[in-house]
Amino acid sequence: MRPVVVIKCGGSIISELSDSFFSSIHSLKNSGWNVVLVHGGGPDITNTLKQMKIQTEFKNGQRKTTKEVLHVVQMTLAGKLNKQLAGECQRRGLSAVGLSGQDAGLLTARILDEELLGLVGGIEKVNTDVLELLLNQNYIPVIAPLGVTEAFETLNVNADTAAAAIAQALNADKLLFVTDVDGILNKGELICETDPAEIEGCIKSGIISGGMIPKAEAAVNSLSGTLKEVMIVNGKKAFLKDNEFFGTKICPNKEAAAG
Ligand SMILES: Nc1ncnc2c1ncn2[C@@H]1O[C@H](COP(=O)(O)OP(=O)(O)OP(=O)(O)O)[C@@H](O)[C@H]1O
Ligand SMILES: [Mg+2]
Repeated sequence: MRPVVVIKCGGSIISELSDSFFSSIHSLKNSGWNVVLVHGGGPDITNTLKQMKIQTEFKNGQRKTTKEVLHVVQMTLAGKLNKQLAGECQRRGLSAVGLSGQDAGLLTARILDEELLGLVGGIEKVNTDVLELLLNQNYIPVIAPLGVTEAFETLNVNADTAAAAIAQALNADKLLFVTDVDGILNKGELICETDPAEIEGCIKSGIISGGMIPKAEAAVNSLSGTLKEVMIVNGKKAFLKDNEFFGTKICPNKEAAAG
């Protein structure tokens, strides 16, 4: 198979993806990459919950998901945003198929901590068959991060966690988190390059908080096999120039990479 790049689009930038974002995808495809998109939906889910007067709270950057919240998550992620992003790809001449992790057993998940997070899942298994089928036919799979338990119960899965699991299962060569900040910041300054040890320290000290926690953890957990480098970039800006990404690069060992 051609090399694979998994690109996770944050919920906060789906509606603001620039022309340069889609031209970068065209360039990647033209230079022989298979592209998989995974998306979040945080702000839209929060707005819909507000409109419906349903309470929501976050624990370590993950949304506590009751049955009521899960209905809204499913409706917003799989119903609205997945179709929106796949539609945007189509409009720009990129053939895309919108899928939910619930389809064809794509994402099998297990409840992480029911008391703390409710119906939030960790990924157990990724069914790569359906993705390979689409990639071999030159389609871009666009994935909404919902998982299904072995008992066929739907779970909310953090999109960063889902993207990392999908990248690992596909033996991807690149994983890109496109979000609404330049990367991991320390007192407003961009950390250009980091590694698992430094990230652990930043989470402990509170430099990394909220939604950056699952993102940084997902990046660390995905570093293995073919995947030697993960990037966090800002989707509100042109983040790719002359084949160089602007953002935070996460690699297994910063010192070794520098030397
Ligand atoms: N050290 C840090 N550097 C940068 N951002 C941080 C840091 N600590 C916390 N954050 C927060 O993390 C946010 C990004 O995570 P968030 O989950 O909100 O977005 P996303 O993952 O792109 O979207 P979604 O969750 O909808 O997919 C930033 O907007 C910022 O508020
Ligand atoms: Mg997030």
